[in-house]
Amino acid sequence: MDDATTQFPDGLQVWQRYFTQNALAGDGIDWYDNSPISNEERYAIARSIAAFQLGEYSEGKSLMQFARVHAAKLKQPDGEALVDITRHFIHEEQNHAALLGRFMEANDIERFRSNWTDSVFPRLRKNAGFHLSITVLITAEIIALTYYRALSAATDSRQLQQICSKIIADERAHVRYESGMISAMRRGDSRPRRRIMRVLHRLFFLGTVIVVYLDHITVIPRGGLTIADFWADCWHNFNVAFPDLP
Ligand SMILES: [Fe+2]
Ligand SMILES: [Fe+2]
Repeated sequence: MDDATTQFPDGLQVWQRYFTQNALAGDGIDWYDNSPISNEERYAIARSIAAFQLGEYSEGKSLMQFARVHAAKLKQPDGEALVDITRHFIHEEQNHAALLGRFMEANDIERFRSNWTDSVFPRLRKNAGFHLSITVLITAEIIALTYYRALSAATDSRQLQQICSKIIADERAHVRYESGMISAMRRGDSRPRRRIMRVLHRLFFLGTVIVVYLDHITVIPRGGLTIADFWADCWHNFNVAFPDLP
């Protein structure tokens, strides 16, 4: 799976440049616009946004460790680039948590210490290699694209809408980068193994879409998405990320 001969097709330096530049870019959020959300809206979004805020932060040490192991198998300068990209990537996720946290604090929304999705995802990632780690990550991120779209439509807060736009822009790039990385790694696998991985990934995605919808049922329909819309949008983004899948 983690075959030393599998190289990222376009060269990792393109992504290294992207992440370096994105770290210097502004977040486009007007922090002076402090109009508070209504109690009714707080009641609808608080639990959901707290779960995402926690999930955004739970990506760190083990991913870095796996990236270092994988980087050692790559040719230079790809190996160095991968470590640098992963550092930036983790930083972006922590920034997403910080943006949501700042909004929550200003609107009296309590933070979660941990929830079950948080304990499932990091546990899965800790017991996996780089390939499986980013496969789990991209699954959550593809669904997050649709979730933040719904959250943005569900809120009257311009500030939260701007936060959603910033996170969606970052996550779109994460999904493109990781799907390229996953495809490159799978290229080194045998055909049957590749097929099994695809089926397992689709099953995992399918289950996660349903769980996320049910877990965030106070936000997603409020954002104008029926379960059918949510399902279709998640799968659309999945099929864009993995176009080679049937
Ligand atoms: Fe994120
Ligand atoms: Fe991400």
